[in-house]
Amino acid sequence: MKTTINLQRRKLLKYTAMGIAGAITYPSWAQTGGFVRVNAPSADFLPDVEIELTMNTADVAILNGDKTRVWKITGKVITGPSEVLDNNEGTYLAPSLRFKKGQKVRLILNNNLPAQSILHWHGLHVPANMDGNPMYAINQGETYVYEFEILNRAGTYFYHAHTHSVTARQVYSGLAGLLIVTDDQEQALNLPSGNLDVPLVIQDRSFDGQNQLVYSAHMMQRMQGFLGDQILVNGRPDFVLPVATRAYRLRLVNGSNSRIYKLAWDDGTPITVIGIDGGLLAAPEQHPYVMLAPGERVEAWMDFSGRAVGTELSLRSLQFDVATHGGMGMMGGGMMGGRGHRGMMGGGMMGGGMMSVSTLPSGSDYPILKIRVAKKEQGDNILPKTLTPIPALHVKNAANAANPRTIALSMQHMSALLNGRSYKMNDIQPDEIIPVNSLQLIEFDNGFDGGMHGMMMNMPHPMHLHGEQFQIVKREVNSRSSDSYATVSSGFINGGWKDTVLVMPGEKVTILKPFNDFKGLFMYHCHNLEHEDMGMMRDFLIK
Ligand code: C2O
Ligand code: CU
Ligand code: CU
Repeated sequence: MKTTINLQRRKLLKYTAMGIAGAITYPSWAQTGGFVRVNAPSADFLPDVEIELTMNTADVAILNGDKTRVWKITGKVITGPSEVLDNNEGTYLAPSLRFKKGQKVRLILNNNLPAQSILHWHGLHVPANMDGNPMYAINQGETYVYEFEILNRAGTYFYHAHTHSVTARQVYSGLAGLLIVTDDQEQALNLPSGNLDVPLVIQDRSFDGQNQLVYSAHMMQRMQGFLGDQILVNGRPDFVLPVATRAYRLRLVNGSNSRIYKLAWDDGTPITVIGIDGGLLAAPEQHPYVMLAPGERVEAWMDFSGRAVGTELSLRSLQFDVATHGGMGMMGGGMMGGRGHRGMMGGGMMGGGMMSVSTLPSGSDYPILKIRVAKKEQGDNILPKTLTPIPALHVKNAANAANPRTIALSMQHMSALLNGRSYKMNDIQPDEIIPVNSLQLIEFDNGFDGGMHGMMMNMPHPMHLHGEQFQIVKREVNSRSSDSYATVSSGFINGGWKDTVLVMPGEKVTILKPFNDFKGLFMYHCHNLEHEDMGMMRDFLIK
């Protein structure tokens, strides 16, 4: 695939050079608005929706005072109704895209950034060459044409940059947005819609005195993952959502680089979860709090009808243990481990001033957003007892039922590894080849069996797999980690379809994942974006 693109690119560079000289002989598909296409739209693909997305630098007002320089994607609908696109103007958020299952979609991505980039459709089941593998990154002045059918069920998906070794920085700069899919089954449920259906993208950022984004990627910061000083929701600080006395569908998306949230209502109301990464659950579930790691989504149903106008309510992230008790033996004296590390981090003790540490340490307690009941409104606020049927996958149907693929998660010698390996383009090992149309049993082992020796450190890793959604079979935690684990375990939603699963220190998570329809390279990686960029990412070759 790469070769084809490179060949085409070389050919096009020649065309471009000739263009400058005056003899313009582009193939008809090869140019739009000054951008050179590296791949061709297919003549027999008839899109229901066609959108042009252009990546640019832009200045947006995030804080009071100076505008912030960001990387902004702006879209234009070429075919289809205008509702498919909302540019989220005035924010760094990429456009929100709304599709329907079964639609054929063409997305024309123009890169006008001073850097290579490529977009990946997180959670969507699309062909390998439409999936935004880093090998397809395009240069400034180039266009990548995506064409695929929306095969996914209704759900809250998203998309973001997936550029080799700079994904974290690019997402941080703004290259991420929502992709919401609906289908008939979902619509028949009459869930809160329109203004009552609110996506909330949670991210953390740090700003300097001139309101510019600060991204530091010191080794220590990378080992832990970047943590910003301030929470932004939908690209805004101090986010307040005014609501009516109705039931709402809140689509919570963790678009942060590495921050993990333990979300809870501050008045003790349980969170009613109706959906996760891959769409609606079989039935609503109540949790005292919900864990949301980078890349994960959770849909909450919340009824404000009993509340007086003027009431306020906050969504907070509560305290939890980010690592196993008893020290990690990593970088001296349990840097990441044990109770009390929060104080240490807050005091800037990590590495003795080697790095600046977030004023919002991971696992501490802080507000995310505020809800203000702003007006009285009548409406039916009935939560359906059941949502959508979820066909269960069975271990006995896995091609490797007796022999699960184990992926060991490790951080050692200043690197983050999968089965001891670091990311390399086109470096498929025999155990990374998977037969197409097979169901696979996979286990992520985060120090469950092995334990910690020498320079090894166990951190939470949100493991994400490209391609089809999977189901969680079981979660197991070792005894050494069970106390810490108890601070997060009620916040896991283990039913339904997932594409990202948080694997805590000392934990082993077993999943069943179908690899249907498409051959080629599909990535699996940690969605702590600093870990991903450090190499905690690999490809599966489906063939
Ligand atoms: Cu959301 Cu490969 O990533
Ligand atoms: Cu993905
Ligand atoms: Cu990780």
